[in-house]
Amino acid sequence: MKLVIGIVRPDKANDVLEALYRAEVRGFSLSRVQGHGGELDRVETYRGTRVKMGLSEKMRFEIAVSDEFVQPTIDALCDGGQTGEVGDGKIFVVPLERVVRIRSGETDDRAVTPLRT
Ligand SMILES: Nc1ncnc2c1ncn2[C@@H]1O[C@H](COP(=O)(O)OP(=O)(O)OP(=O)(O)O)[C@@H](O)[C@H]1O
Ligand SMILES: [Mg+2]
Repeated sequence: MKLVIGIVRPDKANDVLEALYRAEVRGFSLSRVQGHGGELDRVETYRGTRVKMGLSEKMRFEIAVSDEFVQPTIDALCDGGQTGEVGDGKIFVVPLERVVRIRSGETDDRAVTPLRT
């Protein structure tokens, strides 16, 4: 299992949601974050030159998936999130040790996969 963290532009979040739905990825968390992607946005001079880091609004998806869903999840984030301009975002894939569904106590792969009813 992996935790796929995808940081995307706010105006691409809906496209990512649609792409995740098409990939049958159903469980995720979404939050608004501020981030910095390495660019030197703003330079202010005060007794010499110093660089100030600018922050931009991004959306952060956290998606816990079984191994077979890792690549489809990455593809959905890329397909939905890409404009081709700098600042499209990043994806981090983190090992996931344990998942528990609170309602049933089910764990791991049984807990990341939603019930099909
Ligand atoms: N190394 C990092 N660690 C954690 N978060 C990051 C990192 N790099 C980028 N982010 C997050 O991703 C957001 C978008 O980053 P950004 O798309 O600018 O990445 P980039 O690697 O600089 O790519 P690009 O060249 O397209 O700008 C940042 O605002 C920040 O929230
Ligand atoms: Mg950047």
